[in-house]
Amino acid sequence: MDSIKDKITNLQMLLRHYQYQYHMMDQPEISDAEYDLLINELRVLEKQHPKFLMADSPTQCIGASPISRNTLKKVYHEVPMLSLDNVIDKNSYLAFHKRIKDELHDSDRIRLCCELKFDGLAVSLLYKDRKLVRASTRGDGRNGENITNNIRMIKTIPYYLNGHNIPESLEVRGEAFMLLSHFKKINYEALSRGHKVFSNPRNAAAGSLRQMDPRITRKRQLSFICYGLGLVEGGTMPTSHIKCLKKFQDWGLPVSEHTRLLDTQDEVLEFYDHMQINRPFLDYDIDGVVIKIDNLLLQKKLGCITHAPRWAVAFKFPAQEKITTVRDIDFQVGRTGVLTPVAQLEPVSISGVIVSSATLYNTSSISRLGIRIGDRVTIRRAGDVIPQIVSIIGRNSQRHEVVIPIMCPACGSVLKRAKGEMGMYCTNGLTCSAQLKGALKHFVSRRALNIHGIGERIITQLVEKKYVTNLADLFYLTVSQLSEMERMGPKAAQYLVDELEKAKKTTFSRFLYALGISNIGQTTAVNLAVHFQTLDALMNANIDDLILVNGIGKVVARQIRHFFNEENNRQVLHILIKDIGITWMPIVGLH
Ligand code: IVH
Repeated sequence: MDSIKDKITNLQMLLRHYQYQYHMMDQPEISDAEYDLLINELRVLEKQHPKFLMADSPTQCIGASPISRNTLKKVYHEVPMLSLDNVIDKNSYLAFHKRIKDELHDSDRIRLCCELKFDGLAVSLLYKDRKLVRASTRGDGRNGENITNNIRMIKTIPYYLNGHNIPESLEVRGEAFMLLSHFKKINYEALSRGHKVFSNPRNAAAGSLRQMDPRITRKRQLSFICYGLGLVEGGTMPTSHIKCLKKFQDWGLPVSEHTRLLDTQDEVLEFYDHMQINRPFLDYDIDGVVIKIDNLLLQKKLGCITHAPRWAVAFKFPAQEKITTVRDIDFQVGRTGVLTPVAQLEPVSISGVIVSSATLYNTSSISRLGIRIGDRVTIRRAGDVIPQIVSIIGRNSQRHEVVIPIMCPACGSVLKRAKGEMGMYCTNGLTCSAQLKGALKHFVSRRALNIHGIGERIITQLVEKKYVTNLADLFYLTVSQLSEMERMGPKAAQYLVDELEKAKKTTFSRFLYALGISNIGQTTAVNLAVHFQTLDALMNANIDDLILVNGIGKVVARQIRHFFNEENNRQVLHILIKDIGITWMPIVGLH
């Protein structure tokens, strides 16, 4: 029996290590498929030997059962969770800087810890004897709510701390937030199912944490960054804020890579400017930077007012919302055939970037918003998310309602109304040039076949010249054909041909993802690859076989079947595998 216990413990340790490498270090040591094999093995062993199933097992970070109460328990914050005073321009920051210098006298060397101001939800984590025993919201600063079960669904928050000199009781504070890429994804899914969308990532994060079913929190995938210390008992922490953050990192807690320790007000202003410029490239919303006196003894000396410390300040960025006018509404067809209305706007600059269009997601949003050409609207830009129309502030009642096309703007075929979903779509498949361009863009993208040297501009020309009429045609392109493309010399053409050759060796999951089957994202592609192992097995699977795969329900199973039943798809797959010779290594178990 001991050997089973050892095997389970070893697997748990190994998986915790892989999780850490993947989520904390950004350096996965094994492929997703191999990880899935291991975690499945552990799941089976734990099911067969439930007495060895521990609450902190990596299998328990996902799939916990919903909490039965319908209110969250209250938690009292011994050390209040304070808010921050804001400054909104350089002069008011300089006034803060001068005040702390004056109050602390010149003799004290003041160093400033500069951090990002994450736009999420403040959370307190309580570790006792290294173990996460409680997580709570800020609430009113004194009374928060117990959200331990939901917080355990955040993969980067360790259940156990690792390392030395960890205080017996340690309260760590930080921000939970949703990545913009994930926000975009869940809103898109919600829209296509006719559900309500979240108005911004912050609301999405808050809604995900403050609900009763941890499985929903897991699906919503939140991130976490630690930025402060709460109550500490039975041990000591350094008297420097940045050193505390360093300790957190050493013990396995997530901290921000953007934090800097600075000396002068000019350096702080430079940090602010630098982060404002880089804000659009982050995959999360920040609404400013936070400047904190680094020395905890000096922090104590300055103290707090009722709601905020006097030793820190939030230096906010200007709002990312602007008002503009809708000039026109265009309709575009994407990879899956869905008709997407795009509002063409009077160009406005939002934090240095000129915005001249905003997505309206699908045709139903037009009627939902009641938008008309000429309306005055508020638009919002968050990181790399496509600008969105937040609200209409001035209606143009003189203009007619927007007419939704009945024919595909790309291929002219009659559009259909999607069953159970919202909006219209073109059923012409890859015969429609817009869908073909979208499918090719997806096929060559980084997470799919990762083919360099080919972008939207070249794909458009290849489709328009009819050199490419399906995915397989790409591999028959010649250097001379490619050299005909605008701004493509023979060298670049040869490079692309070599890249296409290299792309023929791939992985099964990448290939599946690249095919662009509706609702088959990267994770589902891995699950399918691990489950079926071969393309033939997958192509022969019926709905009942498919729904056995993790993350696949009836709707997606039907979409997979539909894809493989289509004669065109079968032909292209045959050419890709048999004629072109796309291959991958078989998935090997780790046993
Ligand atoms: S420190 C006593 N640091 O901003 C200091 N807060 O406006 C209290 N926030 O409730 C917080 N990023 O939710 C701190 N790097 C950061 C932060 C941060 C975001 C949030 C936090 C707080 C709110 C105050």
